[in-house]
Amino acid sequence: MAKTLAGATVVDTPAALAEEAADLFVRTAADAITGRGRFMVALAGGATPRGLYARLAAEPFRARMDWHRTWVSFGDERCVPPTDPESNYRMARETLLAHVPVPPGQIFRIDGEAADAARAAEEYERRLRAAFEPGLVRFDLILLGMGLDGHVASLFPGSPALDEKDRLVIAVETRAAVVAKRITLTPPVLNAARRVLFLIAGAEKARSVADVLRNPASSLPGARVRPTEGVVTWLLDRAAAEGLR
Ligand code: 6PG
Repeated sequence: MAKTLAGATVVDTPAALAEEAADLFVRTAADAITGRGRFMVALAGGATPRGLYARLAAEPFRARMDWHRTWVSFGDERCVPPTDPESNYRMARETLLAHVPVPPGQIFRIDGEAADAARAAEEYERRLRAAFEPGLVRFDLILLGMGLDGHVASLFPGSPALDEKDRLVIAVETRAAVVAKRITLTPPVLNAARRVLFLIAGAEKARSVADVLRNPASSLPGARVRPTEGVVTWLLDRAAAEGLR
């Protein structure tokens, strides 16, 4: 049974988290397609969304989605080839994209293997700007996770990327992760979304989750995600919500 704690929806297990997220995903897609004719989504990387992607790739959720009217982007990518086990694209392809009929031209992969990550970020930004209405890159749904240190997408605590105001996609380098070089969406595009969905599981995330949701002065990147004309939904398993009691 889902409960609400500090504004977050809390379910018992990671499996229930995937189920709840899949339901919200298909409902958000249906609303977008009814209202605007297509569904623009940015997927998250890391391990947590695997369960969601596997759910979406199987019935009943697979048949509830209009995949032909779905455009898939990524919130961030590690600077590795798409075949690398660390690639967010690879994870999404294996768990979801290889199993659903999204037209290949509607899947916007970040060029993680590019020799010049800054150029790849510029190129991705150009591609996003061209896909949306001029001047407004507004996703219907951006999925995000949260790292142990509180990073979201590849926006790490203390990073100057958190203060980016103009660029929508940038290359970053961090000592806090196994793959140091990354390409990420920036706060302006996260905060232009119609809906952001945080998907977080595990006791090791509880402290960062509590800081973002309970501490009004939190400096963690998650606290910067406040869509100006959209909603943010926090979906947690019981372990990740432990610090909210
Ligand atoms: C990435 C991410 C990242 C991720 C968190 C949580 O590429 O690493 O997109 O922001 O969402 O690190 O990852 P886990 O789900 O693996 O804990």
